[in-house]
Amino acid sequence: MAQQPEPSDWWRDAAIYQVYPRSFADGGGDGTGDLAGVRSRLPYLAELGVQAVWFNPWYPSPMADGGYDVADYRDVDPAFGTLAEAEKLIAEGLELGLRTIVDIVPNHVSDAHPWFRAALAAAPGSPERDLFHFRPGRGALGELPPNDWKSEFGGCPWTRTVNADGSPGEWYLHLFAVQQPDLNWAHPQVRSEHESILRFWFDRGAAGVRIDSAGLLAKDPALPDFEPGRDPHPFVDRDELHGIYRSWRAIADSYAEPRVLIGEIWVSDTERFARYLRPDELHTAFNFDFLARPWEPFQLRASIDATLAAHAPVGAPATWVLCNHDVTRTVTRYGRADTRFDFAAKAFGTPTDLPLGRRRARAAALLSLALPGSVYLYQGEELGLPEVEDLPPERLQDPMHLRSGGTDPGRDGCRVPLPWSGSEPPYGFAPAGVEPWLPQPAGWGALTVEAQSGDPDSMLELYRSALRIRRSAVAGEFAWLPSGREVLAFRRAGGFSCLVNLGGEPVALPPHGAVLLASGPPAGGLLPPDTAVWLQDS
Ligand code: NOJ
Repeated sequence: MAQQPEPSDWWRDAAIYQVYPRSFADGGGDGTGDLAGVRSRLPYLAELGVQAVWFNPWYPSPMADGGYDVADYRDVDPAFGTLAEAEKLIAEGLELGLRTIVDIVPNHVSDAHPWFRAALAAAPGSPERDLFHFRPGRGALGELPPNDWKSEFGGCPWTRTVNADGSPGEWYLHLFAVQQPDLNWAHPQVRSEHESILRFWFDRGAAGVRIDSAGLLAKDPALPDFEPGRDPHPFVDRDELHGIYRSWRAIADSYAEPRVLIGEIWVSDTERFARYLRPDELHTAFNFDFLARPWEPFQLRASIDATLAAHAPVGAPATWVLCNHDVTRTVTRYGRADTRFDFAAKAFGTPTDLPLGRRRARAAALLSLALPGSVYLYQGEELGLPEVEDLPPERLQDPMHLRSGGTDPGRDGCRVPLPWSGSEPPYGFAPAGVEPWLPQPAGWGALTVEAQSGDPDSMLELYRSALRIRRSAVAGEFAWLPSGREVLAFRRAGGFSCLVNLGGEPVALPPHGAVLLASGPPAGGLLPPDTAVWLQDS
């Protein structure tokens, strides 16, 4: 039996399930997922075997960016339910052993947020505008944006305002969509407001927060033009961020069960990344390096090594993530000639071998669930849902798609509502006859929770078994085992080992006591290509 960590250290090796509330389950019958739907499906999550649930934003929002444009951080959007329901959900989850993690969006607010409305109504130079980044334009008439930065969603991150008399006014910064003005984190009121928001959710029982765009909050106050290679970057990974997160950590640690801070940090330098995970800063951060790597033995091994080496000195656990609401679904990505994830490389019409992708996704599940640290599962990953790539263009909502002029497929394809039961849309996601907010494809009948439950060969049962075994048998020291070039083989404490065959030929299994689980049937003592196995010493 593996050693269990301290209860307050649950986050060190937890399996955390990501719920995209809009697409999880529709309890209200209007085609949009909601908190009532989640509450009715909590037993499903408990049975799956996860320890916590991270919810994408559920706050009042005009939904210009799927809720990452927050109009009120202390309430729930009426489309999803009420604050009282969120409180019930948190409490009911706990009764089933599921902790709740809420999504905090500190870099920007919605343009419908009262602060931004007040700033627009106020004059240049006013205290209201100081909470954001307002600047006069360049050029003789101020007709050019204040600097040459690029939006994370493509295009210019500056939008010009209109003065009360109708004349063109100052510009404001939005690293994402026009509707997401960036806050000025050098302002004490911005800091105190977010500290109060943290307490608001921690006081309601949230076990932690996922911090959106956590590496982008601080900006060079001069807002200079971007010069490639210049250090520090004017808005990514700036040193000022560490003081912000230290103050958040003090708040998180002030609770009887300390709350957990999880950063969304896209910083490729693993040592810079690990600085956020020092003992008085964030607890963990998503491992995007691992997520973005191709299905390739050297690449995955290098990512695992770099991850473990960077985390060890700061004492933070690694995290393992295969997909989320922003990236191409795993079975689709792994079924392509180029199996990396890269926002810039996304394109319509990429050929995909889904059966191959599925085999690899099954093997990747066993790989990531056997590594030391915590692991994140994105809703539908456990069902092996593919990316939906033929959504009708007029139904697409993602600003990444819209701002690209329609060339970038965007992220709607990984946000399609879940199939729960039945053989046609809405597959139990909503009451029969109700059209989900994004259409589900025909042919998902075999992928529903109902169809997969009890089928030992299904993706769902693979995840259920893996999560169960992980809790009892996967813990302790990690060490690579000798293996062929195209095989990843490692052991954990207590005689557990994991082998993944990323090559084109079957490989022999090493001597072992028992096969605990395999992502595909081992044939005659051999591990087939694109297959993983968990073994136990005798
Ligand atoms: C990261 C979130 O995961 C993504 O969905 C969102 O669009 C951006 N941050 C902006 O908030």
